[in-house]
Amino acid sequence: MVCASSLIGKAVLTSIPVPRLRDDYILVITVAVAVNPTDWQTLDEIFKPETTRTLLGCEAAGIVVEIGKNVRRDFKPGDRIVGMAHDGTFAEYIMIKGYIAMHIPPDVSFEEASTLGGGIATVALAYYRYLELPLPILPIEMEKIHRSGLMVISTSSPSNFKLLRSRGADHVYDYRDPESGSKIRSLTCNKLSLVLDTIATPASAQICADALSSAPDGLYVNLMGVDMPRSDIEGGHWPAVPEDFELMKKFVVLTEKLLEQGLLKTHPAKVRDGLEGILDGMQELKEGKVSGARLVYQV
Ligand SMILES: NC(=O)c1ccc[n+]([C@@H]2O[C@H](COP(=O)([O-])OP(=O)(O)OC[C@H]3O[C@@H](n4cnc5c(N)ncnc54)[C@H](OP(=O)(O)O)[C@@H]3O)[C@@H](O)[C@H]2O)c1
Repeated sequence: MVCASSLIGKAVLTSIPVPRLRDDYILVITVAVAVNPTDWQTLDEIFKPETTRTLLGCEAAGIVVEIGKNVRRDFKPGDRIVGMAHDGTFAEYIMIKGYIAMHIPPDVSFEEASTLGGGIATVALAYYRYLELPLPILPIEMEKIHRSGLMVISTSSPSNFKLLRSRGADHVYDYRDPESGSKIRSLTCNKLSLVLDTIATPASAQICADALSSAPDGLYVNLMGVDMPRSDIEGGHWPAVPEDFELMKKFVVLTEKLLEQGLLKTHPAKVRDGLEGILDGMQELKEGKVSGARLVYQV
């Protein structure tokens, strides 16, 4: 699924060459891809002048074909792996960066695993680097593996409260309730100091502003660079640095173990067939028609 610079907002399914294996990468036959909001957002972006076309998609699960010579991990041809890619995933053959790919355990399907790539990287960097939460260390008690020993508070539509609780949330609030932020502040006795805003709109930033403690020592991290309405809360922009990659290398090993032991559950997948349906899927996502599930396409 290729997007050309002359066609902003559109993509086409077309033949392109199989990518040439690079030393730090793994060549993979794609089995399932998940659609991430960033896919339609990227489709709508204006290209950099030097780029003529891009392959869309960032999350995939598949089978190892060939391993680059700098990838010193225990992958071999035929292994089932999951990962994320900046070079695109909506294709039959793709390149996944070797050090941040993960094995898929036998009891997890390609479709389930494909939902993990972007989320794992986001959690690793946002929680364990910018918010500096304690990284779970194995072996520890099961409760703490799930939560790093912290209370988890989240927001969603009421129809998804049960799903979020089943994934480890201790408390869930309806983000359409204008009081949700202040309810979280009172639940946390005005002591909440760390927030990750995965939605990153002015409305979600306001919920976070209302929820964070009135003491000026809070830290607000969001994924899209939205402004925090409170000037007393710390935020900022963190450019990518080599330490991010070092953290990811450790985090994927931990994630593989959590997945293997059944301690990490994937998001529910709505599975569909074929790359050609992805454009419609991206449109559904853009229009907010997908709730409590990831759209996954079998390649
Ligand atoms: N997923 C990733 O790996 C990733 C990584 C980096 C950046 N991002 C960016 O982060 C943003 C969200 O991505 P996503 O993957 O989390 O999207 P998503 O899976 O489509 O999640 C959106 C859902 O968040 C729920 N939600 C919870 N609190 C909300 C609030 N305060 N306002 C609105 N919705 C709320 C809604 O659930 P209900 O259906 O229950 O209403 C909505 O359907 C996108 O801009 C994306 O590009 C995502």
